[in-house]
Amino acid sequence: MKFSIKSGSPEKQRSACVVVGVFESRKLSAPAQALDKAAGEYLEKVLRGGDMDGKAGSTLMLHQVPGTLCERVLLVGLGKEKEFRAREYARAIRCAVKTLNDSGATDAVLYLTLLDLRKRSLAWRIRQATIVARETIYRFDRFKSKQDEARHRLRRIGFAVDKRADVAAAEVALAQGIGIGEGIALTRDLGNLPANHCTPAHLAATAQALAQEYGFDCEVLEAPEMEALGMNALLAVGRGSRQAPKLIVAHYRGGKEGEAPLVLVGKGITFDSGGISLKPGADMDEMKYDMCGAATVLGVLKACAALQLPLNLSVIVPTAENMPSGDATRPGDIVTSLSGQTIEILNTDAEGRLILCDALTYAERFAPKTVIDVATLTGACVVALGHVASGLFANDEALAHELLAAGEAANDRAWQLPLWDDYQELLKSPFADMANIGGRWGGAITAACFLSRFTKKYEWAHLDIAGTAWKSGADKGATGRPVSLLAHYLLQHAGLAL
Ligand code: BES
Ligand code: MN
Ligand code: ZN
Repeated sequence: MKFSIKSGSPEKQRSACVVVGVFESRKLSAPAQALDKAAGEYLEKVLRGGDMDGKAGSTLMLHQVPGTLCERVLLVGLGKEKEFRAREYARAIRCAVKTLNDSGATDAVLYLTLLDLRKRSLAWRIRQATIVARETIYRFDRFKSKQDEARHRLRRIGFAVDKRADVAAAEVALAQGIGIGEGIALTRDLGNLPANHCTPAHLAATAQALAQEYGFDCEVLEAPEMEALGMNALLAVGRGSRQAPKLIVAHYRGGKEGEAPLVLVGKGITFDSGGISLKPGADMDEMKYDMCGAATVLGVLKACAALQLPLNLSVIVPTAENMPSGDATRPGDIVTSLSGQTIEILNTDAEGRLILCDALTYAERFAPKTVIDVATLTGACVVALGHVASGLFANDEALAHELLAAGEAANDRAWQLPLWDDYQELLKSPFADMANIGGRWGGAITAACFLSRFTKKYEWAHLDIAGTAWKSGADKGATGRPVSLLAHYLLQHAGLAL
C-alpha cells in the first residue's frame, strides 16, 4: 500500500474514490459540504432519501456523483458530532479502509483527516490514520494455500490536508505513521506465527535480520554463555524443551554517544504449555502468543530504526519454550537467579517472571536511564482489566504518567495498578529468598512485585499485556499492542510527537 498526502478540494480530486464523513443525523462534515455544493446538493438529496443517516460504522458508496472528477464518493458514518473523539476517529478510518478494500477502487483520498478532534493536531490525525489504515489492511495468510485475490485491490491511499502549507508537516507525520505501522505489522506477524515456526531461534534470526537491515548491533547469548553468567532462572524455564533458550540483545544508537539508553525487555515464551504445572487443554493454542512481549519490543525497535529516532534504544529478549519433559524443572525446585537471589519455583507455569528477572538484571550492565518490560504475564491481569487496557506498574511515578499519556495519545491505553509493599509479603518462601507465585488473589500485582525485586537499580515500568496483545474468537489474531503506546512514548521523548 502506498500512502501520500493530498491537498486540494474534494470535488477536484481525480481519484477512484473520495471519502468524506457524515455525522448523525445526516449532517455533512465540511469536506462533504464542499463536495455537495459542487454536486448541486446531490449528497443531501441522497441522504434525505434515507440511504444513510451517519451512524458510526455505516457507509454508502456513490458512483458518478455530478460535479466531481472522481469515480466514486464514499460516505462514512461518524456518529454524533459531540461524541466524536479519538476512538470514533479510528473507527471511521477503519470502516472506510475496509469498505474501500472490498470495493473495486484502486486508490482513494480520505478527507476524514480534516475532521475536527478537540486537542488533536493535524499531525496526530495523519499519523493515527496511517497506523489504523495499515492495521486494517493487515492479513496473516501465509499458511493459506490459496490467497484471496479479490482483496488487496486498493493500492494507494491519500490523506487530505486543507492547504499546501500543511503538506510538509503532514508528510512527517505520515512517515511516522508508516514506520509505526510497519513495526506493528512485524509484531502481529511474529505473534500469529505458530510455535513450530516461531521458536527462540526464529526470534533471534528476526532480530539479527533487523540489525542487518538497519545497521545496528545485535548479539545472541546461547545457553552455555547464560550458564556461565548464572542466568539460572531463565535456563530453568527452557530445560524441558528441545528448543534452546536464548537471550537476544540489540542496541540501536541514534542518540548522543554515551547517552544512557532506554531499555525495552520483552517476554519471549514461544509456547507456554505450563511445563510440569501443565495448563488445561482449552485454548492452549493461544499460548503461542506468549512471546508477544518480545514481538512488541522488536516491533518498536523496527519502528525506531526505520524512523531513525535520535535516541539510544536497547532491546533485550529472553526467549524459551516452556514444556514438560523428563528434564523439565519441577515444582519445588530452587534456582539462583543472575541477581544472586534464590527462587523457589512452586509453579512452573509462572515462567514469564523467571526469564524476565534474569533479563532485568542483565539490563543493569547497560547503565540504563529507564527500563520497560513488556509481557503477557498473568491471566489475573485479564481478569482485572479485560481486553481494553494493558496493566501498568512502575517504581517511578513520572515514568508511569509518561506511559499513561503515551497510551492516551496512541489510542492504546494502559491503566496503572499498585506495587505496594503489602503485596510483597505474598511472595514469601520457607526455603528460598522468594517463591515465584503469590497465591490466588492479586496475581497481576504479585507478579509485578516479583519483578520489582530485580529492578531496584533503575527507573522501571512493567506492562502486562496478557489481555491486549491478541484477540480470541472469530477474529483471533495478534493486535500489535502496545507497539503504538511505546512508539508514542519514544516520539514524545525525542520531541517529535507533534
Ligand atoms: N502466559 C501466562 C499468562 C496468560 C494466561 C496470559 C492466559 C494470557 C492468557 C503465564 O505464564 C501464566 O501462566 N501465568 C499464570 C501464573 C500463575 C501460575 C501464578 C496465570 O496467570 O495463571
Ligand atoms: Mn505460564
Ligand atoms: Zn507465560
